[in-house]
Amino acid sequence: MDDLKFLVLYGVLAGVLFASLHKAFHDPKLDQIPVVGSSGFLASYWDAFKFIRHSPDLIQRGYELYPDGIFRFARLFRWEYVVCGPKLTKDIASAPEHIVSFTAGVEETIQAKFTMGRDLSENQYHLHAIRSTLTRNLHVCFPDIKDEIVCAFDDILQLQGSEWKALPVLPTMMAIVARVSNRLFVGLPLCRSEAYLANNVNYAIDVMRSGGRISLLPPFLRPLLAPLISTRNQSNARALQFLGPLIEERLSKERELGPDWPGKPNDLISWLLDLAENEQRAALPITVRILSLNMAAIHTTSTAFTYALFDLTTRPEYLLPMREEAERVIKEEGWTKAALNSMIKIDSFLRESQRLNTNGSAGMIRRVVAKDGFRLSDGTVLPYGAYLSVALRPTHYDDSNYENAATFDGFRFSRERAEHLAHHDPNDNQDIFKRHMVSTGVDHMPFGTGKHACPGRFFAATELKAMMAHLVINYDVEAEVEGVRPADKVFDERISPNADGKVRFRKRQ
Ligand code: HEM
Repeated sequence: MDDLKFLVLYGVLAGVLFASLHKAFHDPKLDQIPVVGSSGFLASYWDAFKFIRHSPDLIQRGYELYPDGIFRFARLFRWEYVVCGPKLTKDIASAPEHIVSFTAGVEETIQAKFTMGRDLSENQYHLHAIRSTLTRNLHVCFPDIKDEIVCAFDDILQLQGSEWKALPVLPTMMAIVARVSNRLFVGLPLCRSEAYLANNVNYAIDVMRSGGRISLLPPFLRPLLAPLISTRNQSNARALQFLGPLIEERLSKERELGPDWPGKPNDLISWLLDLAENEQRAALPITVRILSLNMAAIHTTSTAFTYALFDLTTRPEYLLPMREEAERVIKEEGWTKAALNSMIKIDSFLRESQRLNTNGSAGMIRRVVAKDGFRLSDGTVLPYGAYLSVALRPTHYDDSNYENAATFDGFRFSRERAEHLAHHDPNDNQDIFKRHMVSTGVDHMPFGTGKHACPGRFFAATELKAMMAHLVINYDVEAEVEGVRPADKVFDERISPNADGKVRFRKRQ
């Protein structure tokens, strides 16, 4: 059954079950917060359904009405509060986890305790492995990342001679990104196993789908029905077949030769084992972390590259300047991680593509977990249990944040960096730094911003920039139909690239 039918079925069930609880849905203390859409019982349900296909319109409308304020709109079982403007966004971005929780917000969207396991949110040492160890190792591991990019493009695009080949971009990039990411996560040869990679790609799809379905259930039914919906045990068992022997072998080597045994691989398995304690130092818990990090990495990165390719093929004038930059920098500095820092046009192009192609109309979903609520700097108090998010897409499209904000200007950030350098002391890096792909702010949130800003963004940017440099140097690309960009898909708060959208590739002649 597809997601929409499933949703309609649940909606009818939910409507009947919750008609009697409408009073609980309506909290008079919240009347001061304006509603976008309807607040009446039946009308708000209708709006909650309309949101599934029209979320960008509703969030945009709210942002235009309350550009520095907060509004709410109806979801099936709750209100969602949307924060707009730099001041309130900063409140959310800097709020401590025990008051406004990222984990509890994610819980609502993907129902992680049912779909991925409670353990992941209760002990988050894997974040440290990404934020610190992985990021620190990017320089040393770059030759492997680059090698995998070259091989994966070759193997997956399979281009001969001077033929042009039209390929669906999202699945193609997902296959490449899965391989490249796993070169760093688990190394050779496993990173090239199709069955292992397929399990990782499907895991993310299963978690999103089953999480979405579980969240449509009334909360009291979730513990009962979630185990029937979630495919967690099957995915874990499949991943364990591949990763179990590797992890066991590393544990055994460590017991035999000590923690820094000669030949210990420099990959995510080792980094996680170095940080894990007690019962976490076993095959299944490490496998679950690797699955969850694959989930965080693969879809996000391949989506970003897909959008970048749609942008590039509908604006072919960007290809030659990026090709010239990549070739020049590599000639001057070699094909290294450090050389990527000098590819400022490629950095700018990818940052601009991320700015305009947001993965949702709202983002940074959070839940208030402090018993006495959360007071925003404008005095609004959101009650315990409230779900909130930031009006991400309208912020990125706001002319007061970016000149001609709705217009794609691939080199706007590299131009700003160059202009800044021309007029300032080159050692004063402060402002320029804000225009890098990895820098976040209340006006730029593809990676979120503040306390929970994506810890994997340094790896993602390295991978995306290296992939783009490799692509423009070695391939020609063009739109399948000149000037036509495949339309995005909107489902609920999510916006995704069209999975059937193709572009044409050819080996550079
Ligand atoms: C272009 C690629 C990526 C995008 C657009 C992206 C975006 C995001 C966003 C929007 C968040 C939530 C921020 C918030 O709500 O404040 C996030 C969190 C996270 N991302 Fe990424 N991400 C990407 C790649 C990666 C990669 C490659 C990894 C791992 C290697 C990763 C690991 C994580 C983790 C672990 C979190 C949770 C952080 C926490 O719990 O505080 N991401 N990412």
